[in-house]
Order: sequence, then C-alpha cells, then structure tokens
Amino acid sequence: MTAQIIDGKAIAQQVRAEWKGRADALKARGITPGLAVIIVGEDPASKVYVANKVKACAELGLHSEHIVMSADTPEATLLEKIAGLNADPKIHGILVQLPVPKHIDSSKVLEAISPDKDVDGFHPVNVGALTTGNMRLAPCTPYGAMKLLEKSGVSIEGKHAVVVGRSNIVGKPMALMLLQQNATVTICTSRTVDLAKFTRDADILVVATGRARMISGDMIKPGAAVIDVGINRLPDGKLCGDVDFDSAKEVAGWITPVPGGVGPMTITMLVANTVLAAERSAK
Ligand code: GUN
Repeated sequence: MTAQIIDGKAIAQQVRAEWKGRADALKARGITPGLAVIIVGEDPASKVYVANKVKACAELGLHSEHIVMSADTPEATLLEKIAGLNADPKIHGILVQLPVPKHIDSSKVLEAISPDKDVDGFHPVNVGALTTGNMRLAPCTPYGAMKLLEKSGVSIEGKHAVVVGRSNIVGKPMALMLLQQNATVTICTSRTVDLAKFTRDADILVVATGRARMISGDMIKPGAAVIDVGINRLPDGKLCGDVDFDSAKEVAGWITPVPGGVGPMTITMLVANTVLAAERSAK
C-alpha cells in the first residue's frame, strides 16, 4: 500500500483563499485585520518564522507590524509594548514569538496579551475554552493539522488517535481538538515505554516530538492517517520530520510530507485567527 500524500501547500492555498474572502468583506466595511508580531532576540529560526508570518499577512492584504526587540529588552518594556497593542484598534492579533530570552517569564508575557487578540491561542483563557469544548482562538499548528485531516476526508469520530508529544503548543491542544471531534485519544511522550505498542494501534497518529525520524513504518498501523509535525535539520542540511517518511508511506493510508505538510498550515491558521479576531471586534 502506498499512502495518499497530504499536500499541505495546496490545502493551505485553498484555506487562505477562503479567509481572504472574509478579510476582503471586512475591508469593504473599513476594517483591515491587523497582526502584530513581536520577536525578542536574534534566534535565527525564529527570525525566519516571523518573517514568513508577516509575509503571509501582506499576501492576504492584512495590516501587519513586525516589532523587533533586542535580546536584553527588560520584561517590563515588553509588557508595556503588549499593553499598547492591546489598546490599539488597528491591531486585532498579537503574537510574541517563542522562545523569549531566559530573563523574561514567558507565562507572564502570554497572560499579558488580551485573550481577544491572542491569535496563538496560548492565553490561559483560550486554553481553558479549548479544554471545555468552547474553542475561541485555537493554537495554529494543531488547528492546521485538524484542517488537513478534514480536507483529506479522514474520519475522526470513534477512531483511536495517538498523539506523541505533550507540548503546550502542539501535543496537548491537538489531543483536545481530536477529543472534541469524538476520537478516543492517547497521549504518549518520547519516554513512553513500548511506544510502538501505542502507535501501532493508532488510526490517526500525530507526531510532535522534535526527534528526527523516530517513527518508522513498522510502528504504524496499515491505513492510518499520519500527521508529522516535526521539522528537523539533518547534518547534510536537509529537512526531515519526526516520521521516517520513506518507510511510513508504504504502510500509512495518508501521510503529511516534511516540508510541505503541516508547516504551510500553521501560518494559514494564524492569518485565519487574525481575521476571526477582527470579525469579532467588528461585532
Ligand atoms: N515558536 C514555535 N512555534 C510557535 C508558535 O506557534 N507561536 C509562537 N508564538 N512561537 C512559536
């Protein structure tokens, strides 16, 4: 069996077109959705992510502000900046790129963002809303992964979904979203004893551990939908996921490639959340 490759780039284009229509409708009413992205410090990967986020906004005709702060910015200065953006009517979404430098308390920063402008879905109010099944603004990567499953026609209800990885950004919210769609959910970590026992029972397998190619084809149930959230750089400079794509695609029913799977969806859902936040503020 050879898996159907889930084309994240194509699905992202389709989803972006849907949200562009909603953004254009708002603009016709004199409201341009606006996103502020803050980066503190010089992390090279973060710089690339932030530049791509700002670029995606421009492509959809959204207003964006790219705020660069030096690595030694005091926490209080960052909190003041966020307070200003919370009060700014041109800004509907605020994102502080993680990680922030060690002297800054990331929880304090995430809690300072108004929950209505929290397009990352990391504020405790939005985390709580997701937990109780009243999703408001959802974390972009798992939200994008759910869209990939939906657009690929993978049924979730009653299925066994296994999520490997329990981060606040991906694993935990992904598990909650699958649960909300009536999957039976197991959360594993990279330390789970006999991990393969769990992954082999998964109808839907989501892997977000940051460990290159840790899931091989023999750990996958034939016909399963495999969502690879990992993005790792190999010594030869090439990118690969947390799943060994070559062996996995021979067993899975559906699989996301890396790059070109989940990645394009993360930014798409950020744009979607910004438009959604702008729509709500306009009501
Ligand atoms: N760093 C890695 N992923 C993310 C994300 O989704 N949002 C933010 N703000 N920072 C990140």
